[in-house]
Amino acid sequence: MRNLLKFLAVVALVMPLAGQAQIKNSRHDLSSSNSTSGAVKATSVDQVCIFCHVPHNAQTTLALWNRKNPTSTYTWTDSINNGKTSQGTTLPTTAAQFSANGSLRCLSCHDGSIALGDVMNMGGSATTIAITDQASRTSGGKIVGTSPYDIGVGGDLRKNHPVGVPFPGQTGTTAPVGANQYYGATNTGCSTNSGGGCVNNGTAGKALPLYLNSGNALQIECASCHEPHNTANGTFLRASNAGSALCLTCHQK
Ligand code: HEC
Ligand code: HEC
Ligand code: HEC
Ligand code: HEC
Repeated sequence: MRNLLKFLAVVALVMPLAGQAQIKNSRHDLSSSNSTSGAVKATSVDQVCIFCHVPHNAQTTLALWNRKNPTSTYTWTDSINNGKTSQGTTLPTTAAQFSANGSLRCLSCHDGSIALGDVMNMGGSATTIAITDQASRTSGGKIVGTSPYDIGVGGDLRKNHPVGVPFPGQTGTTAPVGANQYYGATNTGCSTNSGGGCVNNGTAGKALPLYLNSGNALQIECASCHEPHNTANGTFLRASNAGSALCLTCHQK
């Protein structure tokens, strides 16, 4: 009985939180009815998913993606090893080097090269959904360099956590093992997932996905840390970063 009461108490606590963990009214809700003040949103199109997904004539069935891929050239010359990772891998300079679902899809809005409303299909044809700009954050419906949400505008990925590189110690599709100066993930209880593999040190709570690249390596990507629909942890994070738990999942410090 006591356990049942505990269970009900937990359900009561979790239920309202689950209601808040949605994309609606978040920064990824670009529908005209987003009620958050100052939201970047459509002037009249009242659909949430359409900016990223469409059921037909999508770019790919994979995630039914409704956007074009960026064709930007990227730079990040200020990494640990002058444009390379600690392992000597060059950080990606072309769109093809990122995993599509993991990072490229984020950059299709966040690098400012493609308008937020520029979609493959709405109502049977390609169109650009009009956006109400917010000063210093968007212009012409695109994220601009002065925005706090600029990630790679002008192809400049300097000052960002590396993405689009294989996780150290990882060979082929096998999840990474071992530890070195930067990485301590031991992958206890880490099963494969849609991304192809994951990192889980068994203490920080949540397995973070890695994404297969075209060369069959498992990479860290934006979506290793972020879940674009989930507001439960703030900043669309996959897991809480309280106590830097997110960082400690991969870095044994
Ligand atoms: C701002 C862009 C964006 C919006 C808006 C968006 N999604 Fe997504 N969605 C993504 C991305 C990016 C992925 C791929 C993520 C990955 O594979 O890690 C994805 C994946 C998915 C998937 C497959 C994988 C999963 O997480 O289950 C489903 C289902 C999905 N979205 C449904 C929706 C629905 C329904 C809506 C509208 C209520 C929506 N999405 C709105 C970006 C978006
Ligand atoms: C999903 C795993 C993962 C998570 C989570 C993660 N990192 Fe990393 N981190 C990596 C990988 C992979 C690299 C690749 C660079 C390399 O091989 O040198 C890296 C590189 C770094 C570097 C070195 C950058 C350079 O070029 O000098 C720092 C510092 C760092 N991470 C800090 C953090 C912090 C702080 C957090 C939490 C906000 C975090 N990391 C979360 C995997 C992760
Ligand atoms: C359809 C365009 C679009 C796509 C695709 C997209 N974003 Fe965003 N994102 C936005 C916009 C617009 C904002 C808010 C900009 C503003 O308010 O000025 C935003 C905000 C964010 C924020 C800040 C959230 C907050 O509450 O502070 C994060 C984090 C983020 N995006 C990560 C991602 C990641 C990771 C991906 C890929 C998995 C992604 N986004 C894909 C358009 C997009
Ligand atoms: C290693 C984990 C990690 C990776 C990889 C990562 N992010 Fe983030 N991101 C975070 C964390 C943690 C925050 C919250 C920072 C804070 O609260 O100050 C954040 C914040 C953001 C924000 C809000 C603005 C800001 O500067 O805080 C945006 C937008 C964003 N991320 C987009 C992206 C995109 C796009 C990618 C891929 C190119 C990406 N992130 C890759 C961990 C990551």
